[in-house]
Amino acid sequence: AIRETIRPRIKEGRFVLDDLKLDTQWLKSLAMIHIVACGSAYHAGRLGRNLLESRLDIPVEVDIASEFRYRRPILTNDHLVVIISQSGETADTIAALREAKSRGVKTLAIVNVVGSTIAREADYTLYTWAGPEIAVATTKGYTTQAVALMLLTCYLAQERGQMSPEELAFAQETLLKLPEAVEKVLSDHKEVQRLAAMFFNCKDIFFIGRGIDFSLSLEGSLKLKEISYIHSEAQPAGELKHGTISLIQNGTLVIALVTGKSLREKTISNIQEVRARGAVVLAVCLEHDTDLAGVVDYTLGIPWISEELQPILAILPLQLFAYYVAALNGNDVDKPRNLAKSVTVE
Ligand code: G6P
Repeated sequence: AIRETIRPRIKEGRFVLDDLKLDTQWLKSLAMIHIVACGSAYHAGRLGRNLLESRLDIPVEVDIASEFRYRRPILTNDHLVVIISQSGETADTIAALREAKSRGVKTLAIVNVVGSTIAREADYTLYTWAGPEIAVATTKGYTTQAVALMLLTCYLAQERGQMSPEELAFAQETLLKLPEAVEKVLSDHKEVQRLAAMFFNCKDIFFIGRGIDFSLSLEGSLKLKEISYIHSEAQPAGELKHGTISLIQNGTLVIALVTGKSLREKTISNIQEVRARGAVVLAVCLEHDTDLAGVVDYTLGIPWISEELQPILAILPLQLFAYYVAALNGNDVDKPRNLAKSVTVE
């Protein structure tokens, strides 16, 4: 799915998004981006915020659609609203799109289902080409949305003259390597399976991380709770001390995301805080970060690809962990109770 999303968008050294006929002059005056979505698409949007802000140097807000539609955000005609939806039929997301359009702002949708309501109504559409997604808990929907946001970031930076030829070439080279790297992480599932067998009957599982690792924690926790029915929450690691740490006891499982380099030391000190209160810590980290093994109980290593694409590899062990934990609990992983694939009511 990731290969299909990337392939048609890189041609002769350039990022080509044919369907986005955005005027270059307007793009250069772009002052702000609002990303709006629900569920996992919102979590993908959080990854997009970091990518877009760091490359374009303009503010990017990420909103949950059911909040955005009622809070009358400040929108002007030099803003762009990016709507993300796998199905293109989520009621709150459609309403948010219509609200943005009624306020005269340009809208761009990242959608998987061709011809869906959001794809038809947005001014511009960038398809994820993930193919049909049947299971309720999205996996390839999420990863291809993250890839689409990377493509969009590079395209906008290219058109606005904010990436050098060397930077563009590097981004393309790493994107083209991504599908194989994903295949490798997915095939190395034995260790994830072993850990799932150790923890499948936990009552609570906490996820912590900082920055991008916090956004990944939100998605890892959502995947786990929706199909395993184990209570789980994600916390920014630095926020634990303001409440959640009171829930940590002997044997509580804390999954720590430590894939970003700049905040590694800060997260380690939070790991030490929860371990001091009896937590068992499983870290998702870079495979060459062998020092971390001395600070945590278990590690799941992922190979290095690049700062911007790392989150796409980092989410895979968490998706697999949720899958194995749910399967070991005897749950229907494709059709969890009380949930729908496409939420067409408010
Ligand atoms: C439902 C699905 C989620 C999805 C969310 C948004 O809750 O179960 O997997 O992330 O809706 O759906 P969308 O189709 O708009 O991405």
